[in-house]
Amino acid sequence: MEHLLLDAAGVAAGPRGAAGFAEAAHRILGALVGGGAALGWVDPPSRAEVDALVAHVLAAAAAGDAALRVAVADGRTAGFGYWLRYTRPTHRPHADLEKVAVDGAHQGRGLGRLLTAALVEDARQAGIEVLTLDARGDNTRALDLYRSLGFREYGRLPDFVAVGADRYDKVLYLNDLRAAG
Ligand SMILES: CC(C)(COP(=O)(O)OP(=O)(O)OC[C@H]1O[C@@H](n2cnc3c(N)ncnc32)[C@H](O)[C@@H]1OP(=O)(O)O)[C@@H](O)C(=O)NCCC(=O)NCCS
Repeated sequence: MEHLLLDAAGVAAGPRGAAGFAEAAHRILGALVGGGAALGWVDPPSRAEVDALVAHVLAAAAAGDAALRVAVADGRTAGFGYWLRYTRPTHRPHADLEKVAVDGAHQGRGLGRLLTAALVEDARQAGIEVLTLDARGDNTRALDLYRSLGFREYGRLPDFVAVGADRYDKVLYLNDLRAAG
């Protein structure tokens, strides 16, 4: 598998630009959420919602308040992830890794690890002090991956994530980049 990793500037400058990426992100998120993936949606997000999210992340990245990483495999967008700096004035040194998503057909080939490791390194380079994330408690594959990249659990909201009648723990992770030196 031929792959490359783009950052936000690379996406914006690419042949299909932000709109092309938004279309791919909508496709990937729609399929994953439709299949029950724990990405924060119960129903697949609309194209307008994904367009707005992509525009927000790209604008924040241009302002130094976000990082976006996009994996392109065999010429096609195969996955992406991003973090956003916290907006609360007292939390500005920190950022939240909001989403990492790899297209089902490309999972298990190392792209999720590549994306997440790059986003952690981006955070380090940007001087982010603490990178947080939250995940659904049953998403052991993602949680294992995050722990292997330096995250640790700092809290848990029991039976907090509601999907229909089902309830799952919301697991809170942090990666203290100050400690990592
Ligand atoms: C979580 C996710 C991003 C991982 O992406 P991926 O490209 O499949 O992950 P990788 O191939 O880099 O593998 C990462 C780890 O996952 C585990 N893993 C990979 N393939 C697996 C499989 N088929 N079965 C079980 N575990 C597997 C391994 O522990 C692997 O670690 P390793 O690198 O030491 O082998 C991806 O599964 C995904 O998009 N899931 C749906 C959305 C989601 O849950 N996102 C996270 C929200 S918090």
